[in-house]
Amino acid sequence: MTRDQTTSTLARRLGGLHADKVALITGGSVGIGASLGRMLALSGARVILAARTPGPLEQLRDRIVAELAALGYADADARVVIEPNCDVGNPADMERLAANALARFGHVDYLINNAGVVGTEDMVIDMPIDGWRQCLQANLNSNYALIRALAPQMKRRGAGHVINVSSYFGGEKYVAIAYPNRADYAVSKAGQRAMVEALARFLGPEIQINAVAPGPVDGDRLRGTAERPSMFQRRARVILENRRLGEVYAALYAATRAEGLPISDLLPAILANDVRAVMADERQPGALRALAERIWASSDPAGSSRTHFLSERLARKLLRRLTHGGHLPAQVTDGAMTDFSATLPAGRASVAHEAWRSPPEPFFTQAEYEREGSKVGERILGMLHLRRLPTNDDVALATIYHLADPYVSGETFHTTGGLRFERAVTEGELFGKASPQRLAGLRGATVYLVGEHMGEHLARLTGAFLDEHGAGRVVLISESDATPTRLGATFPAHLASGRLVSVVASEELEAALEQARATYGPADAIISTPFRPLPTVRLAPGPDGDWSEVLSAEGFVTLVEQQITHHVRVAQRAATMERARLVLVTPPTTHRSSEEEFALANFVKTTLHSFTATLGAECERLCHYTAVNQVDLTRRARDEEPRTPAEEHEELERFVEAVLLTSAPLPSPEESRYRARIYRGNAITV
Ligand SMILES: NC(=O)c1ccc[n+]([C@@H]2O[C@H](COP(=O)([O-])OP(=O)(O)OC[C@H]3O[C@@H](n4cnc5c(N)ncnc54)[C@H](OP(=O)(O)O)[C@@H]3O)[C@@H](O)[C@H]2O)c1
Repeated sequence: MTRDQTTSTLARRLGGLHADKVALITGGSVGIGASLGRMLALSGARVILAARTPGPLEQLRDRIVAELAALGYADADARVVIEPNCDVGNPADMERLAANALARFGHVDYLINNAGVVGTEDMVIDMPIDGWRQCLQANLNSNYALIRALAPQMKRRGAGHVINVSSYFGGEKYVAIAYPNRADYAVSKAGQRAMVEALARFLGPEIQINAVAPGPVDGDRLRGTAERPSMFQRRARVILENRRLGEVYAALYAATRAEGLPISDLLPAILANDVRAVMADERQPGALRALAERIWASSDPAGSSRTHFLSERLARKLLRRLTHGGHLPAQVTDGAMTDFSATLPAGRASVAHEAWRSPPEPFFTQAEYEREGSKVGERILGMLHLRRLPTNDDVALATIYHLADPYVSGETFHTTGGLRFERAVTEGELFGKASPQRLAGLRGATVYLVGEHMGEHLARLTGAFLDEHGAGRVVLISESDATPTRLGATFPAHLASGRLVSVVASEELEAALEQARATYGPADAIISTPFRPLPTVRLAPGPDGDWSEVLSAEGFVTLVEQQITHHVRVAQRAATMERARLVLVTPPTTHRSSEEEFALANFVKTTLHSFTATLGAECERLCHYTAVNQVDLTRRARDEEPRTPAEEHEELERFVEAVLLTSAPLPSPEESRYRARIYRGNAITV
C-alpha cells in the first residue's frame, strides 16, 4: 500500500468492512481522527465527527461526502455528520455529543475516543494542578463519560465497540513507560489503556473495548503547522528551558549548602539576571560563579540566554519551586516580575542590582531550538525498531482492521510497532527486605504519613517507624480529625511526647503539607495513602439492565481525583524536599472485595504507575534526588489475596516491609549510579 490513500484504492481495499455501522469519533477533524473518519466512511460506516473548531470539520465533511458521492452513494450527504464546538474537556459537551449522535442515527456502534490534548508540558514539580486536571479531564475522563453515555444502548442492542486512542507512552500490559516533562499526558494515556483492561469483562460479552497506542506519527502534530510548532520544536523548548532552570536551581542549592546562607539571600544575584556581573563579582558563591561561567561559555551569543540566567517564564517557575520548597515566605503571585523582588526578604548588601531584569527576545535562539529539535527527532527515530514513522493514514488503516476483529477485547494494539524505551514493570512482587544498615538510617527521621481511611495500615506504619526504627517524628496529614484522634489513642505516649503529631488537611492538601514543613521541618520519608476508599459501585448493570447503580461519569472523575491526583498533589511538594523518599500507596483489596473493586484497584495501580515511573525519572534530573516508588495493595487474581486473619496479618506486615524498603534512605547517584537508578519508579505488590 502506498502512503497516498486515494479514494478508489481505499474503497476497493476496504470493501464494506464497516457497512452500515455508525461511528462516533472525537477529535475527528484532522490528524488520526480525520483519517479514521474518512476510512470508516469509505468502508461503509456512517460517521459523526466531533471537534472544537468548525472550519476543519466542514472541510473534511465536504471532502468525504464528495468521495462517497463519487463512489456512488446516493445518500452521501447524510452519511457524514459533524459536531463542532465540542470540547472533550467539557463534561456538558460530552453529554450533548452522545445525545445528538443517538438522536441522529438512533444508535452508535463504534465509539472512538480519539481527541487528545498535549497537556502542560511541565515537569511535575512545576505543573499547575489545574493544568494536570484539565489534561486528565480531556484525555481520560471524557472517555469514560462517553462510554457511560453510549454503552447502555450498545448492551441493549447486543453489540458495540469502543476504541480509546492512547499512546505508546501509555505503556503496555504490566509495564509503565516514563515520559519526563509529560506526566499529565502519560498518565492520561496510561489511564485510557488501563480503563480498557478494567472494563472489558463488564462491558462484554456484548461490547468490545480496546485501545490503540500509536507511537509518534508522521503528521501535523509531529511536524507542526503554521499555527502550531512541531513536536520536535516543542520538546526542544521544554528540554532547553528545563535544563536551564535545573542548572540555576541546582546552583542555588549548591551555593546555600556551601555558604550556609539561606537561598533567599542568594536569590537577588540570580534575579538581577546579569550573567557577566556574577562572573565578575568575587564575593558571589563559587557555585553561582561557576554557573555563570558555564552559561557564558556554552550559550548561543545571539540569544539573551547567554547574558541572562532566566527568562521571565523560568524565573516564575523558579520562584514557585522555591516557595513550595519553603525558601520564600509567601506563595508567589502572578503579578509582574518586579513585584517578586518586593516579596523577597532583604538581599545581601553586596548585590548591586536586586530588581528583576527582563531579558530581551529571543532568550533561546531558533538555531538552538533547531539543534535540540533535530536531536529529539533522531532519538525518536532511533527508538523505532523499523526506523520508520507511520502516517495518520497508516495508523487509521491498522485501527479499522483492528476494529473489524469480533473477538478481541481488553487489549492494546500498538499501531507503530515496537519501540525501544525504558520501561518499569508494574506487577513486581515484594521480594526481600531493606537491609539493617538502610533501616538504621531511619533513626531520627521525620516521616509524613498522609492518610485517613486506611486506619490499620497507618497505625501499623506509625508503630514501625516510631517504635521499631526510631524515627524522630511521625506527622500525620489527614483529611479530618477522626484519624489523628484514633491514632493518638493507640499511641498515647508518642502523642504526649510530640513524636506523633498531626495536621488536618480537609480540602487543602498543599496547605497542610506546607504547614507540616513549616512546623516540623521537611520530611525524610512521605507515605501517601488515599484519603478515601474506592467506590463500591457496579461497572455494568445486572440482568435487569438497570444502569442507575453503575459508576457515573462524575463518579469516575472523583475516582481519578481521589486515587491519582491526590498522590500528585503530595508528590509535587515531596519533589522539593532534599533526598526525601516518597511512597505512593494504591487502594487495598481483599478476598472479600468485589470484581468491580479489583478492576478499579487495578485501574488505579496501572495508571498511577505511569506517574511514579515518570516522576522517578524526573527526580533524577532534580538536585534533591527525591526517590519515588509505589506500593500496590492489590493483585489481579482474587485467589492470591489473603483469606484468613493470619494471612491478612501477613499481608499487613509485607505492606510495612515494602514501605520500609522504599522509605529507608536510598543510595545517592554519587554512591552508586546503578543502585540509585534501580531503586526508583518501581511498583511493588505485597
Ligand atoms: N500524532 C501522534 O504522534 C500521536 C502519537 C500517539 C498518540 N496520539 C494520540 O492520538 C490522538 C489523535 O492525535 P493527533 O495527533 O491525530 O491529533 P491532532 O492532530 O492534534 O488533532 C486533534 C484532533 O482533536 C481535536 N481536539 C483537540 N483538542 C480537543 C478538545 N479539547 N476537544 C475536542 N477535540 C479536540 C482537534 O480539533 P480541534 O482543535 O478543532 O478541537 C483535532 O480534530 C490523540 O489522543 C493523541 O494523544 C497521537
